[in-house]
Amino acid sequence: MAMLLIALHLCTTFHLLVSLPITAKTPPPYTPTDYFLLNCGLSSNSTSPDGRHWEGDSNSKFSPHNIHTTSSTYEASRQDSSISEVPYMTALVVKEFIVNVLNSHHLNVTFIPFSSSYAFINGIEIVSMPNNLYLRDQDSDESAATFVNFQPLVCSVNTTALETMYRLNVGGQAIPGVEDTGMFRTWKNDEDYIYGRALGTTPHPLNVTIKYSRDTPVYTAPKLVYSTSRTMGAYPKINLNYKLTWIFQVDTGFIYLVRLHFCETQLEVTKVNQQVFRIFICNQTAEEAADVIQWSGGSGIPVYKDYLVWVPKKIQGKQDLWLALHPNKDLNPKPEFADAILNGVEIFKLNQSEGNLAGPNPELVVGPTSGFPEEETENKNQVNFPRLCSLLEP
Ligand SMILES: *[C@@H]1O[C@H](CO)[C@@H](O)[C@H](O)[C@H]1NC(C)=O
Ligand SMILES: *[C@@H]1O[C@H](CO)[C@@H](O)[C@H](O)[C@H]1NC(C)=O
Ligand SMILES: *[C@@H]1O[C@H](CO)[C@@H](O)[C@H](O)[C@H]1NC(C)=O
Ligand SMILES: *[C@@H]1O[C@H](CO)[C@@H](O)[C@H](O)[C@H]1NC(C)=O
Ligand SMILES: *[C@@H]1O[C@H](CO)[C@@H](O)[C@H](O)[C@H]1NC(C)=O
Ligand SMILES: *[C@@H]1O[C@H](CO)[C@@H](O)[C@H](O)[C@H]1NC(C)=O
Repeated sequence: MAMLLIALHLCTTFHLLVSLPITAKTPPPYTPTDYFLLNCGLSSNSTSPDGRHWEGDSNSKFSPHNIHTTSSTYEASRQDSSISEVPYMTALVVKEFIVNVLNSHHLNVTFIPFSSSYAFINGIEIVSMPNNLYLRDQDSDESAATFVNFQPLVCSVNTTALETMYRLNVGGQAIPGVEDTGMFRTWKNDEDYIYGRALGTTPHPLNVTIKYSRDTPVYTAPKLVYSTSRTMGAYPKINLNYKLTWIFQVDTGFIYLVRLHFCETQLEVTKVNQQVFRIFICNQTAEEAADVIQWSGGSGIPVYKDYLVWVPKKIQGKQDLWLALHPNKDLNPKPEFADAILNGVEIFKLNQSEGNLAGPNPELVVGPTSGFPEEETENKNQVNFPRLCSLLEP
């Protein structure tokens, strides 16, 4: 069994990439056993600005033998010589999926366009990853995901694919793929997702040592994710009157895996019950008393928590998924600080029971009275629950 991370690179125009020297660095914590980069539409190999080697797919052993008759290649005009990696980076759509290839040692990636439409692809990146990084058998250990707003159902992690929706270094800088822990995941800054102007503060303590653990191995997330964070601020009265909130647009009708990364690096927070907060996901209480020191075992030790939430098809298309933190001072003994902390967020869409991961694109225009047939036929009591898994393991 192998977990694979697949990134599909789509870009409205294709820009030839220039080569830059790679600076020597210590090897990343994780070394993929499989790692393929295919540059679609080219017969020659090339090197991207981040120093990675891309194989042209025209003559690749990974391409179908009939690639020359089933597809065409297009290249943007070369006259655009001023275009370097900048527009390429900004115009790029980096779609990422995580799938399990079980024992077949075979992964087929097929593009099937809708009729009178076409499919296109600029690059395909395939990276193996540690087996238990994201989805684990729910009964296998205590760090399994918490079900926030639907009934826990056992589902086969072996047949569930994930699509990465968001991966943020909260309170810190963007992290390019080459600076990830070896899986080439990219991490964005979180500021664009914060609700209102309530940005809180971003402590950057100097000289933090991140102590990875058995539960949070060094490949989980880069040091930069755990050494930067966002907290609510220095004024307890203000903190008690607002929620530190992020908003994410997601497709409706899917279950999402929300992974929150924590690491307490504030010098004053070192003991259990000093800083405790509530976590709300999809406006439901996901965690009543989050205590990072208690979870992790000490300061500078990273820890992550997984939550599964169901975003029903109440409205068509996209919906906002709210993530909010608020201090909990209702405990006895009362926690000393009225604050909350978050270091990183990852949000993944889980495939529906028949395997689908696609949301409507372009957005379906559906009248307000039109319902979704599959939900209309459902029993009223079940309408809030997804048919999570067709496979309920005995
Ligand atoms: C999932 O795959 C692993 C490895 O192949 C296997 O040991 C396990 O039994 C599978 N689980 C289920 C529920 O099929
Ligand atoms: C392109 O790269 C692949 C994989 O690294 C290699 O097998 C192939 O020989 C290269 N092709 C050319 C034309 O250099
Ligand atoms: C992938 O496609 C090849 C060629 O069509 C086929 O022989 C193979 O069985 C497929 N593998 C899987 C896992 O679907
Ligand atoms: C940084 O941490 C190291 C190891 O904990 C320590 O030896 C060093 O003195 C620290 N430097 C500063 C400037 O605090
Ligand atoms: C969550 O709460 C916010 C603020 O009260 C509200 O605007 C939003 O519509 C709620 N979302 C859902 C899915 O109920
Ligand atoms: C994802 O799809 C597969 C079928 O391809 C199914 O077995 C699995 O249960 C689905 N996962 C979820 C969470 O519905």
